[in-house]
Amino acid sequence: MCGIVGYAGGRSALDVVVAGLKRLEYRGYDSAGVAVLSDGGLAAAKRAGKLRNLEKELTERPLPSGSTAIGHTRWATHGAPTDLNAHPHLDHAGRVAVVHNGIIENFAELRAELSLRGQAPVSETDSEVVAHLLAEAFSSCGELAEAMRQVSRRLTGAFTLVAVHADEPGVVVGARRNSPLVVGVGEGESFLASDVAAFIAHTRSAIELGQDQVVELRRDRITVTGFDGAPADVRPYHVDWDASAAEKGGYDYFMLKEIAEQPRAVADTLLGRIGTDGALTLDEVRIPVEELREASKVVVVACGTAFHAGLIAKYAIEHWARIPCEVETASEFRYRDPILDQRTLVVAISQSGETMDTLMALRHAREQGARVLAICNTNGSTIPRESDAVLYTHAGPEIAVASTKAFLTQLVACYLLALYLGQVRGTQWADEIRAVVRELSRISGAVERVLATMEPVRALARSLAGKNTVLFLGRHVGHPVALEGALKLKELAYMHAEGFAAGELKHGPIALIEEDLPVVVVVPSPCGRSVLHDKIVSNIQEIRARGARTIVIAEEGDEVVVPYADHLIRIPATPTLLQPLVATVPLQVFACELATARGNEVDQPRNLAKSVTVE
Ligand code: F6R
Repeated sequence: MCGIVGYAGGRSALDVVVAGLKRLEYRGYDSAGVAVLSDGGLAAAKRAGKLRNLEKELTERPLPSGSTAIGHTRWATHGAPTDLNAHPHLDHAGRVAVVHNGIIENFAELRAELSLRGQAPVSETDSEVVAHLLAEAFSSCGELAEAMRQVSRRLTGAFTLVAVHADEPGVVVGARRNSPLVVGVGEGESFLASDVAAFIAHTRSAIELGQDQVVELRRDRITVTGFDGAPADVRPYHVDWDASAAEKGGYDYFMLKEIAEQPRAVADTLLGRIGTDGALTLDEVRIPVEELREASKVVVVACGTAFHAGLIAKYAIEHWARIPCEVETASEFRYRDPILDQRTLVVAISQSGETMDTLMALRHAREQGARVLAICNTNGSTIPRESDAVLYTHAGPEIAVASTKAFLTQLVACYLLALYLGQVRGTQWADEIRAVVRELSRISGAVERVLATMEPVRALARSLAGKNTVLFLGRHVGHPVALEGALKLKELAYMHAEGFAAGELKHGPIALIEEDLPVVVVVPSPCGRSVLHDKIVSNIQEIRARGARTIVIAEEGDEVVVPYADHLIRIPATPTLLQPLVATVPLQVFACELATARGNEVDQPRNLAKSVTVE
């Protein structure tokens, strides 16, 4: 949440920073602002609302040009999204400007202290205190990086801070604790950003900043230290995707592009993980095989869509590896004092690798001695860095706030992990694993076929734009798919949407069914576990008898459901456990189209942000 950009180099710094903010707007879009160093002075502009409001302001009242600047796009935590609360925040003399992502937990105490010294902040934010503290520290030490170290040591909570000072032209300083910040290393220019997407058009060479580090950025020099001033090791890496991956590529929305990218994302996530003999080689899983063999249970922690991937993982892990698996929303995990020990394998699933709830859950697990494996889409982010091992998903950058391709690749990673556990624990024979892997390899093509048949789903979604409620039902792995379908609709279309285990309906929720209420039912394959299929067919009949308009997602060739489906969405036949990989896709398209029909901004739903770095 909140996107931050800093630049020192030879170009127009404001152009670079505003272009970078456009790439980071997915992180928050309540307000935006910039500050630029020019001719020994500092100039700033900020506006509530989307970045376009700031761009308009900069066109109508241009700032002086300069080659050092910072910028911010906000997801509000403390203080409403107003011009005053927008970042950057300046000290009273207007010499220092700072942008902040995260929450400064001791801001009230610092605010009171500043007020006593006649430096009371003017905004309602927790962030502004940093501008005044930096100004005070700079006036005594005369160096922005040192001032940042001194101030950072006084702050508690989570923060990425990036600042400039008019008395130190050509310098941008950043600090990081529990919140993301990456450095971009260009030719005669340097960048700082919450995410490489902000500078990928200029350089693919990046440096991860570690926990509690301060970076001083000049166009030709980058210096990293700890908060204590000790020089820090830097870990440069090459970003393996390019600017085009972070563009809309002809689609109206990033979400449409990301939905369309799913066949490739699924295939890429399988790449290099299956040996020629069909056995799995998860090289990145560096937890010793003996420990995986000895593990007494698996606990999956994740949030939102990633949590739904975890719910599906449970079915696969318990079925293939015969090891008990619990799944818990990360935000609840550590507060219930979970039972963990050295034989517990905790799996933390996160697209961004920065979700604070998940990060806190994994830290708690490690404190209790558990081993943590991350499933993550973002190279070098905090969650994989703090885990014992990582299985990267290869979805490429996901920009739309609503997760789509990351979800499918999380599922692939979960299936691979479950099979791998089965392999090392000897609960699956090599030929059984090969058979599933063969099916997994076909999924990319199956998703492509689903995508090619989505026009009737879009038409149906448009026809339901006036409805207030949609329910989603599923059984077995179809239940998490139903939850995911409901989540997508809530966050994008702002409609009342709920997912239920189909069998649970008769225990209460069936009272919600009324004439013409749309109910989406995810039907499991009739092959393999026919009892599941029979049960859900009965559930469809029960709701239809009470007036529901049934929207049935069923596999090709399933004729039993035809008489009970007011609308039928066909998906390719897949083994039951793998069905979520194809069944989720129509639900993504459905939510996206319905939101568009209701006039909502698909990539930036209200009140949300992509990367949730606060608890
Ligand atoms: C929903 C969505 C969120 C995220 C959740 C976790 O479409 O995107 O529910 O899944 O905030 O985010 P990550 O995976 O980055 O930890």
